[in-house]
Amino acid sequence: MGVKRSIELTFFCFIVLLFAFSSCDKKDLEENNKVTIVFKYGKLFGDPEPLEKLIKEFESLNPDIRVKDEVLPATTDEQHQFYVINLEAGSKDFDVFSLDVIWIPEFVRAGWLRDLTHIVPPELRKEFFQGPMEVAMQNGRVYAVPWYIDAGVLYYRKDLLSKYGFSPPRTWGELVYIASEIMRKEPGIYGFLWQGKQYEGLVCNVLEYIWGNGGSVVENGKIVIDSPNNKQALGFVRDLIHKYGVTPEFVTTMTEDSTTRIFAKGRAIFMRNWPYAWNILEREDSPVKGKVGFSMLPSFPGYSSFSTLGGWFLGINNYSKHPRESEKFVRFLSSYRAQKLLSLTVGYRPTLKRIYRESDIVKTQPLIAHLYKVFEHARPRPVTPFYMVISQVMQSEFSAVITGVRNPEDALKSAKKHIEFILGTGY
Ligand code: GLC
Repeated sequence: MGVKRSIELTFFCFIVLLFAFSSCDKKDLEENNKVTIVFKYGKLFGDPEPLEKLIKEFESLNPDIRVKDEVLPATTDEQHQFYVINLEAGSKDFDVFSLDVIWIPEFVRAGWLRDLTHIVPPELRKEFFQGPMEVAMQNGRVYAVPWYIDAGVLYYRKDLLSKYGFSPPRTWGELVYIASEIMRKEPGIYGFLWQGKQYEGLVCNVLEYIWGNGGSVVENGKIVIDSPNNKQALGFVRDLIHKYGVTPEFVTTMTEDSTTRIFAKGRAIFMRNWPYAWNILEREDSPVKGKVGFSMLPSFPGYSSFSTLGGWFLGINNYSKHPRESEKFVRFLSSYRAQKLLSLTVGYRPTLKRIYRESDIVKTQPLIAHLYKVFEHARPRPVTPFYMVISQVMQSEFSAVITGVRNPEDALKSAKKHIEFILGTGY
């Protein structure tokens, strides 16, 4: 009796286990047939939901691919460090990633980017803004797809400017005057916020003053960063804080995110930032909704205004084990539809030119029509595989000046010496 019962029990357990395993097997099989690709990108300032939704949509259109998204810190410098460390070690841990415009020559030279020429044929290249497309192409091949474009713009409180009878400033001097006047009449408000922390954002800001004063960093292969015009421009940036007092000292610790947050609370008159800040300022619950205007950045008298060309690309890790699936994902995320959606929601400005002419975009995003010109004329930072090393030099010299520990002349002389050393004669 006891033996029979234990045989029955064993048989029963066997059947139960068989069922369990077979259903497990089925699920595993389904999962195993899926390829998982890892997508890395920097933390979004706005709402992350639209991007997450797009990823889900891609997965439902491609049931055999799963996308694991992994978010890195927001600043370009931190992200760059992550990629350099991992790609130098030949990491296969991620497949698709977003790249800042300034890293592309460096990553191509290192062999870290998959050649994507076949997914961006010549007729498609023409649809993108020329600036980013030129950077995406190195030695006649395409290594990344322009995802969204950035250029510095001036945000201002249109309610306050009109209350005191001012129009948006055309020159930096006018900006100082307007800010000082309004600050006097509206105690407690900050004049002008910008990105002054020692990081890449500071370089983007300072170059805009340099270019807007007729200067540059490199000209015909020569390092001209210590020119008299540049000294004057950098001195002016310092004076915004230490002489005119329109910029608070704490700006020397500020990034895009922190300046936007203060401006969004209604606590400043002017702010220099990238175009995506607009969508944050115009949110339903924003205290400054409807009160903000934007314009091209001012320049110095007699010179044109230039914005720094920023923006991000989608690239594929050359060590990826899933290049085909990664290509599908890059195509999807850089497509017309995805770019348009991200522009309307997150505020990432499209790299595809035709989106700027569409009536719904023009209606809901008044910034867009103006931006087309700004983007077309935005100026790239020096395009070289050694850009990040040069930037480190500029970051520390510019920061020393704006924090008041070095004068512009010494800082720019030292920057020139270091940059010449880094580039040798090979620029
Ligand atoms: C933005 C720009 C990028 C730039 C960075 C600096 O993300 O798109 O090109 O390097 O700001 O903070």
